[in-house]
Amino acid sequence: MRVCSFDDVTGLFEAGEFDVVVLNGPTEHFVSEADASAGRDEAVRRTLFDALQVLIKPGGRVFITCIHFRWPTDITEVRKSPLAHPVGSYYFYCSVLVEIYSGWYPLGDVYDRLAADAGFDLVRERDATNDYYLTSRMWSTRLKDYLRTNPRFARQFVTGMFRKDPRYFFSVFLFWLYDPWTWQFRPTDVAETPLTHR
Ligand SMILES: C[S@@+](CC[C@H](N)C(=O)[O-])C[C@H]1O[C@@H](n2cnc3c(N)ncnc32)[C@H](O)[C@@H]1O
Repeated sequence: MRVCSFDDVTGLFEAGEFDVVVLNGPTEHFVSEADASAGRDEAVRRTLFDALQVLIKPGGRVFITCIHFRWPTDITEVRKSPLAHPVGSYYFYCSVLVEIYSGWYPLGDVYDRLAADAGFDLVRERDATNDYYLTSRMWSTRLKDYLRTNPRFARQFVTGMFRKDPRYFFSVFLFWLYDPWTWQFRPTDVAETPLTHR
């Protein structure tokens, strides 16, 4: 096994070495918030599809799962402190999420477009947002149950984190209270937009 960043793969493998590449959830992290602020998001994503084009045999396949934004989202607002936004607003949730998680999601059909530019045909696409919503709710419930029933572990975990990084601890506290992870997959009214959801 080799561990490397996605932008180093072409130097490590032969052209056409793979029949199939599976990207199950890493690509959300490939564009950093700094990349997005600097307008480099599309260029970074293009690097991935260009690398895949080199590494995959003609007729080979790529399988990608990726969390995506539902609406155009302003990186400047997201990078502010969560408390710069009304509690419970769209940007409040996004800001907590990105502080904990890090990575800038793609929006719309950007992957379809970049894949087509790199010579791929789209075989199948499915929106699994609701599946992730159900999974995430279950994770959240189980984690909370575990911490409630193991108070000693919970105490050590909380005090250890606070000592290590009080700012991160505060974000984790908001994460615990508001669960933006599950929130991002919630069923919504299609009329909801970032600008009106305050
Ligand atoms: C949410 S996890 C997905 C894990 C995966 N689905 C699994 O089951 O192991 C995100 C993954 O993205 C990987 N990742 C983040 N940035 C990366 C980069 N620049 N290049 C390659 N992988 C990266 C991390 O190492 C991590 O394993």
